[in-house]
Amino acid sequence: MLVTQQPVFRKFWHAVMPLTELANGPKPFRLLGEDIVLFLDADGQPAALRDRCCHRTAKLSKGWCVDTDGKACGSGAIQCGYHGWTYDRSGQVIRIPQYEPDRRISPDYKTTAYHCTARYGYAWVALEDPIADIPAVPEFDDPVYRTIFQFYETWNTSPMRALENSFDNSHFSFVHRATFGVAASPKPSRYNLVENEGGFHAETVIEAANPAKFHAISGVTDPITTRHMRNAYFLPFARRLDIEYPSGIRHIIINCFTPIDDGRMQLCQWLFRNDSEADCAAQMLIDFDDEITREDKDILESTDPDALVDTRRRGVEYSMESDKPGMLIRKHLMQLLAKHGEAEVHRGMKVIPLAQAA
Ligand code: FES
Ligand code: CO
Repeated sequence: MLVTQQPVFRKFWHAVMPLTELANGPKPFRLLGEDIVLFLDADGQPAALRDRCCHRTAKLSKGWCVDTDGKACGSGAIQCGYHGWTYDRSGQVIRIPQYEPDRRISPDYKTTAYHCTARYGYAWVALEDPIADIPAVPEFDDPVYRTIFQFYETWNTSPMRALENSFDNSHFSFVHRATFGVAASPKPSRYNLVENEGGFHAETVIEAANPAKFHAISGVTDPITTRHMRNAYFLPFARRLDIEYPSGIRHIIINCFTPIDDGRMQLCQWLFRNDSEADCAAQMLIDFDDEITREDKDILESTDPDALVDTRRRGVEYSMESDKPGMLIRKHLMQLLAKHGEAEVHRGMKVIPLAQAA
């Protein structure tokens, strides 16, 4: 599936950037193939515009924020770095420095504005009117949990590949054999899958290697521990990995696999823990998940990002029992496309020219 060719994804909120990244001025991002610029408005709220000035097409992300007097500041309106045309969060040009102050600015002078809001420390963007809410993450506001912003980085793969990998119990003994995978136990445990309108819940108990260096992470000292996992998939590209160790420690990872274009995604990863810094330092938790995350990234970047969701086409990829959650993700995506009158677009597709088709 080529995500940039499926308009329905424009109607979902996507986590695009930690708010801290915007403290020093506008930043560019490519979402679903569309170049956008993010900045903080006068109220300190994130805003997103098409990254293209309507004067001579310069990227607005080359510019900076200005206050109402036109002075540079950390948040406010965004000023183009080429000739200084200045835009508010609605995309309207509100100031042209070359004009006399009382000269009217044409309302035609504007660029596209997108839905943009702050949640869980990130700027979220929907390119068109959103049809679903941002997934609920109750731990963010729960004092029992601490929030650790783990990873924000680009992967050369697709959200579909990252998602199916998230629920794939068969890869631990191989991809993660140097970390938590148990090489001697390649047979995966089964998930109990319960579907809902926006995705599914997936519960299972797995075995995980627990060497001494992981004892503070798990709160367990046995060489092999169990992980009770209550995971969830949220349409279209988000997931929850909720691990409970026998110690009662919860290690909850939220991921948005934000689609950049048809070959890349942005990994946005939050970690929530119900222990304290004294129990296990945040840096140790980042290092622990970093090692595992490098293992996944390396193998996923070797796959074809154009993961097919239409399972009726045989002979391109084969599946086994443990791919069931991945097949369920495909089913939900196919249903979403069908509901919005879209067919899956993929790279191997034979495109019949219109004239020939008629
Ligand atoms: Fe932006 Fe000229 S190109 S002000
Ligand atoms: Co993995």
